[in-house]
Formats: sequence, structure tokens, C-alpha cells
Amino acid sequence: MVGALHRALHHAEAYLGSLEERPVGQPVDLDELRSRLSIELGNEGVEAERVIDELVAATEGAHLGSAGGRFFAWVVGGALPAALAADWLAAAWDQNAALYASGPAAAVVEEVAGSWLKDLFGLPPEASFAFTTGCQMAHFTGLAAARHAVLRRVGWDVNELGLFGAPPIRVLASSERHPSVDRALRYLGLGNKDIVPLRTNDEGCVAAAALEDELVPADIPTIVVLDAADLNIAAFDPFAELIPIAGKAGAWVHVDGAFGLFARASEAKARHLRGVEMADSWAVDGHKWLNVPYDCGIAFVRDRDTHRAAMSVEASYLVATKTARDQMDWNPEWSRRARGFAVYAALRELGRDGLRELVDRTCEQARNLVDGMGALEGAEVLWRPRLNQGLIRFLDPRPGAKPCDHDARTDAVIEAINATGEAFVGGTTWRGMRAMRISVVNWQTSDRDVERSIAAAASALGSCR
Ligand SMILES: Cc1ncc(COP(=O)(O)O)c(C=O)c1O
Repeated sequence: MVGALHRALHHAEAYLGSLEERPVGQPVDLDELRSRLSIELGNEGVEAERVIDELVAATEGAHLGSAGGRFFAWVVGGALPAALAADWLAAAWDQNAALYASGPAAAVVEEVAGSWLKDLFGLPPEASFAFTTGCQMAHFTGLAAARHAVLRRVGWDVNELGLFGAPPIRVLASSERHPSVDRALRYLGLGNKDIVPLRTNDEGCVAAAALEDELVPADIPTIVVLDAADLNIAAFDPFAELIPIAGKAGAWVHVDGAFGLFARASEAKARHLRGVEMADSWAVDGHKWLNVPYDCGIAFVRDRDTHRAAMSVEASYLVATKTARDQMDWNPEWSRRARGFAVYAALRELGRDGLRELVDRTCEQARNLVDGMGALEGAEVLWRPRLNQGLIRFLDPRPGAKPCDHDARTDAVIEAINATGEAFVGGTTWRGMRAMRISVVNWQTSDRDVERSIAAAASALGSCR
């Protein structure tokens, strides 16, 4: 048993210690990777240490360097040392974090970490919470509570009656919303036809008039979904203005705060979140700016009774402990990983000052990256980061080049940067244009990483003529 763990530690040390030198994005030959892994499953088992060594050997070169400091695609963090170690322990302790009775420490650690997060985000102290696999399932949880509440208000008990024949629900959501919102709604029986996109202004935000235009009388069950930082430019909707308007119409307000809720940790950035605490539910990620290993999102719900009613279930064999918090009452899953340990450890490792420093530093690095790459020949900054996200496109220098040529050039430059192995960036389509998207949330990103990545972009541009 211990031998395999030692091998894992050895390989993890070697991997993490080599991130500086390893290419961030390595070209992987899919057939080669499949052939390395698709060995015949024998009748006899293999010694644990050998399994680990061979797994490492077979996957060598096929891990994207997102754990390191020069990965700026998507919005993905790394893993803080204490969070990573606590996550290993969670696996070693192998607790089923469904109930207090099936893992007392796991239950209480989650209880404490949830309270710390509410406090850090400035959310109502009475709010309930659930630790989910990611923001996708945090949306599911918050929106399940929303569905329950808005239908109950019109006399429909969705737990009892289901959704067939229920009064229709309208969902008003920013046109810049993350698609995980749509998918959460789909899981809840709501389709595209139920979603009304709210137009956004030049700043990427939903203005009061856009919401007012779409709100209809209070007797129609309505859910409003707002962004605490959209995925492209990290635009925050004006919560202090919008939430009272939605509230007057009897709507439930859910906030996608996947990474943006962490702006609350920064004195300079917290203003973007003014009024967000007035919402009814919030979804956030642990595996983004908090830098805990994957498999971590958190949903918060103001009205704990509604949250519990939407999630809780009874079964004869379960052991409810009256004075403890049973996670199953709040979570969509039954048996589950004790993901609170990593969150607890990350928060303790950072402390309030560390979290503030992490947010401020990565925002500054995002700005420096965009300024540095945006100053390269043919680059055009589409969005200079106000938080941690920025957009650049690369113009085709040929006379008479059309928008589609600039799009193609942008994609070619992204590919060329990633091919250097020095940095990894993502692409997106924003306001009809292809753009390179820079996102910085990783605790490992250093100023030297920023310089190295700008230099990589410069050389990629040179090779891309
Ligand atoms: C704004 C936003 N919301 C939701 C999500 C979905 O989060 P997850 O991948 O943790 O489910 C993401 C992921 O990138 C995001 O950026």
C-alpha cells in the first residue's frame, strides 16, 4: 500500500519540479497515446507500484501544463501545496462525505470552510451552501432551489408534482452567460425556449433597461441569472441596480460567480461586486482562483429551507445526526469525495492577506501580459483586463485583408504561441471576432512567467508571417 504512495509522491515531485522546463502544451499523438494505454487487461492483477510507474510512463508528455504558471487558456487555476496535499489525504482517508455519520471530520471541515467562504465573499451569514464538483453543478444546485421557490410561489410543489404540467418558468439571463447555466437549466427540465437572453451594453453588462424590458408581471415564475464576471472580459453586471428590480418583480436572482466572486478579496476590485449579496443564490468555483485541485465548486443559497427542500431526501438506512450538518441535505450527489478538505487547506494556507495578494497579483499579471502581447506588431487589444481576463486579436497585414483574414491570423498566432511550449493561451469569439483570450488565476504565475510568455508570443509572431 505505502509503496505505491511513495511512487506517487516521487512522480508528483518529479512532475511538479519540472514544470518550468516542460513544454506547457505538448503535441500529443493520439494514436500513440492510445496504443500506450490500451494494453490488454490481464486476468492477473499487477503489483501496485508497477501500476503507478507504468501509468506515469504511458502518460508521459500527454499532460497539459495547466498546473504551472504559463498557462493562460480558459480560467483554470493550479493547486496550492496545502490544497494538493489535503486532497491526497482526502483520498487516503477515503471518507464518504454524504453524511456526518459517514465521515465526521469531512462534514465539519466542510461546515467551517463554507462559513469562511461566505464571510470572504460577503454573503449573508444565514445562507446555506453545498460543495459540488464544479461551477456547473453549483449552478444546478442554486437553480434547483430557484425552480423550487418560483414554482412554490404559484402553488406548484415540484417535488410532489414534477415539471410536466407545471406553470412555465421564464429564465432571464445575460447574453454573455456561460453555457453551463443553460446546461444546468436543461438538467432541471428547462430548455432553450425558456431562456430569454438579456442584451449587454458596451461594457458587457446587463443594464437596468435591458432587464426591465423583459420582466413581466410577478405571477409568472421568473429566474434572473447575472454574471459576476463573464467568461471573456470578466464583466460584472450592476447588481445593486438589477437585483432590486428583479426582486420587485418577484424573481429569483442567481449569480454566476465562478471566478468573479473572488474579486471580493481585493480592496481594489471588490467594488465590482457591490450589491451581489442581495441575490438569492450564487455559484462559485474552487478549482479556479482558489487553486484547489479539480472537482470543486460551491453553491450558496440565501433561503436555506428552500435549498434543503430542493436537495434533501430520506431513506430508511441513512443515519441523520440532528446536531450535525449532513452534506446530502444540500448536495445533488449521494456518495461523494470529501472535497472540503482541500478548500479548508487552501484557505488556511493563503489566509485573507494571501487571497487578496493572489487576486491583485494575478490581475496585474493579466494586464501586463495583455499590454506586452498587445504591443507586438499587428496585435490589437480588444479588452484590457479590468480583472484577470483580456482579449487580443492579430491583424492580417495584407492590404485589403477582411475580418475573416484577421480571424484566421488570430487563430494561427494562438496556435503558434502554443506550439512554442513556452506559454499556452486560448481562443474565443467575442462580438463576432476571433480573439486570443488571456486569463490569469494560477498561484504559480510569476512575473518572469509573464516576461517569458510575452517573449514566446513575439517569437511565435515572427514564425507566423
Ligand atoms: C463564468 C463561468 N461559469 C461557469 C463555469 C463552469 O465551471 P466548471 O467548469 O467548474 O463547471 C466556468 C468555467 O470556465 C466559467 O468561466
